[in-house]
Amino acid sequence: MKSGLRPDPTIFVIFGAGGDLAWRKLVPALYNLFLDGWLPAKYQILGVGHGDMSDAGYRAHLKKGLDKVSRRGKAQKEAWNDFASRISFVSAELGEIKTYKDLAKKLSALGNEWDILPNQIFYLALPPSLVGDVIKGLAAGGLNGDRCRIVVEKPFGNDLESARALNRRLGEVFNENQIFRIDHYLGKETVQNILAFRFGNALFEPVWNRRYIDHVQITVAEDVGVEHRGHYYDKAGALRDMIQNHLLQIFCLIAMEAPVSLNDNEVRNKKVDVLRAIRPILPERVHEHAVSGQYGTGWIEGKHVKGYRSEPRVAKGSATETFAALRLFIDNWRWQDVPFYMRTGKRLPAKISEVSIQFRNVPHQTFPPAALRDWHPNRLIIAIQPEEGIFLRFQSKYPGPAMRLSPVMMQFYYRETFDVSPPDAYETLLLDVMIGDATLFMRADQAEAAWSVITPILDAWNASKPTDFPNYQAGTWGPEEAQTLIAQDGYNWMSPTYLQCQDDTATCKVSMEPMS
Ligand code: BG6
Repeated sequence: MKSGLRPDPTIFVIFGAGGDLAWRKLVPALYNLFLDGWLPAKYQILGVGHGDMSDAGYRAHLKKGLDKVSRRGKAQKEAWNDFASRISFVSAELGEIKTYKDLAKKLSALGNEWDILPNQIFYLALPPSLVGDVIKGLAAGGLNGDRCRIVVEKPFGNDLESARALNRRLGEVFNENQIFRIDHYLGKETVQNILAFRFGNALFEPVWNRRYIDHVQITVAEDVGVEHRGHYYDKAGALRDMIQNHLLQIFCLIAMEAPVSLNDNEVRNKKVDVLRAIRPILPERVHEHAVSGQYGTGWIEGKHVKGYRSEPRVAKGSATETFAALRLFIDNWRWQDVPFYMRTGKRLPAKISEVSIQFRNVPHQTFPPAALRDWHPNRLIIAIQPEEGIFLRFQSKYPGPAMRLSPVMMQFYYRETFDVSPPDAYETLLLDVMIGDATLFMRADQAEAAWSVITPILDAWNASKPTDFPNYQAGTWGPEEAQTLIAQDGYNWMSPTYLQCQDDTATCKVSMEPMS
């Protein structure tokens, strides 16, 4: 969200230095920021973790991750050596206050050396069970001054109550403007582009309401299973892992009112208004609004894959949902009675995220039935990943002597339009933390409001455990009930545009059909 600012000198402390997040996301993102000239002239990265590791050993470990995952491929030796010369490893026990006192001395010595009070960023790349210890330690070490910022990863709590407790705990030590609750979807270019698309154009806003929009679908599908994260995921499930954060944030960007400016609190105020206007789901009606599923064995890209209950570190009779679909309404002037459907799941046929906005029918049909054989309502698709772009379907006249309407697509592809490779979400978000811009981060009230939305569903699902799990085959679009959820209003889930385009470019150009 920044506009060309370069951060002040910064010390970046990663708690959980040896973990997957540091290896796969944080350090590659910092390295790319370095290459693009966004890191401050003076910076230091301290990895705090268990065990004994030399600085050289730690750097070599990080380089392996970077070479594997960075959007730029393998690191160039010289650039990497330059970047990595400012990375060091600190072996420490997170539960001991001494750790933080020692850290405070180290940070202050660096500040003295630089002759400036640097920004101090504490990134908690840790399981939730360790977060409390670190907050306590940072307070004891006096590491919560004006220059300090703390970044907290999801899951942000496990339910409304624990999220509130975590907010209280953070609030005792830091001011809200020092706290960055990260949701990496908000850093994705295509997700940020929703703001640009809606509020940078005069064209769409007048039709962006119940008068013209019929319904909205948000799909965030993954073809992977739980991989090596069974231990975490089995306690979380799709509702907590994806809907409470990523999908509800996309939903807010689609539904929010126009912010007066890009000021962080202004944008977040508008988003939290949406969450608060969601029609509460009554306990006895949860089944009309939410569907859960769990994958069994199946096939993904021609390979046989195991069912969820056979994944490592998952309970044998697990009742955790790996698929969730929701039907929500927003009680306000703009959206009254417009259904919003969202679905997410593991082991679905492909990794695809997109928002599909279907417009209402024309108020009066001018054309005779023979002209309308291929007619479809207008639809706008915001493709988030892997395809990045925006597509608009409208009617045109099929060439020929007769009047026949045929749907066509107007298409904007990032890859064709811009000649830069978009930054990874973490690059954008880490830079924002360094600059102190919290627009793309969850504020305390947002996180709690999102938990409030899903709490009745969590409670209902907890109260009556499913007896039919696994209820969808890996490689399919989730359980039958997901279809029933949307069919009760007379709709179908849309087959993601990306898949249609992959299967058949011609189909992509002329039509976007509901899934059969
Ligand atoms: C994470 C979830 O927040 O997002 C994962 O914990 C999920 O379960 C991931 O796989 C998806 O992110 P992306 O950017 O790959 O769509």
